[in-house]
Amino acid sequence: KRSYNVTLLPGDGIGPEVVAVAKDVLSLAGALEGKASNQSLSLSLSLGPMRVEFRFQEKLMGGAAVDAYGVPLPEETLAAAQASDAVLLGAIGGYKWDNNEKHLKPETGLLQIRAGLGVFANLRPAAVLPQLVDASTLKKEVAEGVDIMVVRELTGGIYFGQPRGFGKNDKGEDTGFNTEVYSASEVDRITRVAFEVARKRRGKLCSVDKANVLEASMLWRKQVTSLASEFPDIELSHMYVDNAAMQLIRNPKQFDTIVTNNIFGDILSDEASMLTGSIGMLPSASVGESGPGLFEPIHGSAPDIAGQDKANPLATILSAAMLLRYGLGEENAAKRVEAAVTETLNNGFRTGDIYSPGTTLVGCKRMGEEVLKTVESQSTVA
Ligand code: NAD
Ligand code: IPM
Ligand code: MN
Repeated sequence: KRSYNVTLLPGDGIGPEVVAVAKDVLSLAGALEGKASNQSLSLSLSLGPMRVEFRFQEKLMGGAAVDAYGVPLPEETLAAAQASDAVLLGAIGGYKWDNNEKHLKPETGLLQIRAGLGVFANLRPAAVLPQLVDASTLKKEVAEGVDIMVVRELTGGIYFGQPRGFGKNDKGEDTGFNTEVYSASEVDRITRVAFEVARKRRGKLCSVDKANVLEASMLWRKQVTSLASEFPDIELSHMYVDNAAMQLIRNPKQFDTIVTNNIFGDILSDEASMLTGSIGMLPSASVGESGPGLFEPIHGSAPDIAGQDKANPLATILSAAMLLRYGLGEENAAKRVEAAVTETLNNGFRTGDIYSPGTTLVGCKRMGEEVLKTVESQSTVA
């Protein structure tokens, strides 16, 4: 029996709605690992069933933690996350806390947990599923077949750079300032991850920067270029971020793997999500050198639809699949979950964000139930 501790951080807004659904999917996919299927019958008979069991612990973070404990990331939450095998996060933030001081913002808690877990590599896959081509705002021939992986640096750059703050300029005017800073080793480690990711995909890596203007980007480009000799099998290119934003819409199929800094990765991954039909579809995995990974949808707490059972839970369910694959090495269960999502879409179920005429409009809970039904019917893929 394989058994894992998973910390759940539902957070705010739609976070609790989508995490509840993903938790059930994880549990069922784990339990089904113990059931002999057609393909793996002989294996199961010889080894005995190997049920995967999860011990979940739920902790507060974000606005919910500000309200309950007066901080967006309580020590207890970070300690629990650090001691677990993997962390699944919903989303944080909301109008209520938007004007809080920085140390009391939900977003600060999110940056703190990423830093606290040392998860510097954020993988954000954006693939256009054939079932959802019509949900994309792009023309069918542009969107069809898109399959991109954005590798976003997550614990450095302007999000964390010092100095930062508010001040006065020499005219006595108020100022706000931040610092975009990267060290060579920070660039090297994310670049290595990206080359490895590209190697497992189609062997193409595009590094996105603003090296025509920013020193941090000049260093970025220099480090990426010098590491390329270690990966002669990968086709490396460089692109300025403004052009990359344009090319993603013009001809997204030219991209395989993209590596970029924290802020460009934030922006480009939201842009890439729209190729796939909705931000409600895009999962992510954040990993470091060691310790538990952090798995979260790329979307936010969607306060405009929170509490209405309208959220698309698929991004979080697919994040749970990434948790199984990258966090726990449970590839078979990960494939089972992904196959269940595909089948649920094949069965015509759609939340509002991916709805198109001729499909069946469902809410968050019902979408979860439909996925659970199909998880059960997936035979193992090992
Ligand atoms: P958002 O991603 O929450 O919402 C943008 C739009 O997409 C909204 O119209 C929303 O309804 C829709 N949307 C998002 N997720 C959806 C889903 N699963 N299903 C259907 N529709 C979905 O971004 P925002 O409105 O800019 O930010 C809202 C709050 O979330 C802010 O406080 C922000 O700081 C926070 N935020 C948190 C995270 C995170 O926790 N990782 C990420 C982004 C934004
Ligand atoms: C994301 C979010 C966060 C980020 C915010 C909420 C701090 O937009 O996870 O993409 O900018 O990283
Ligand atoms: Mn974002």
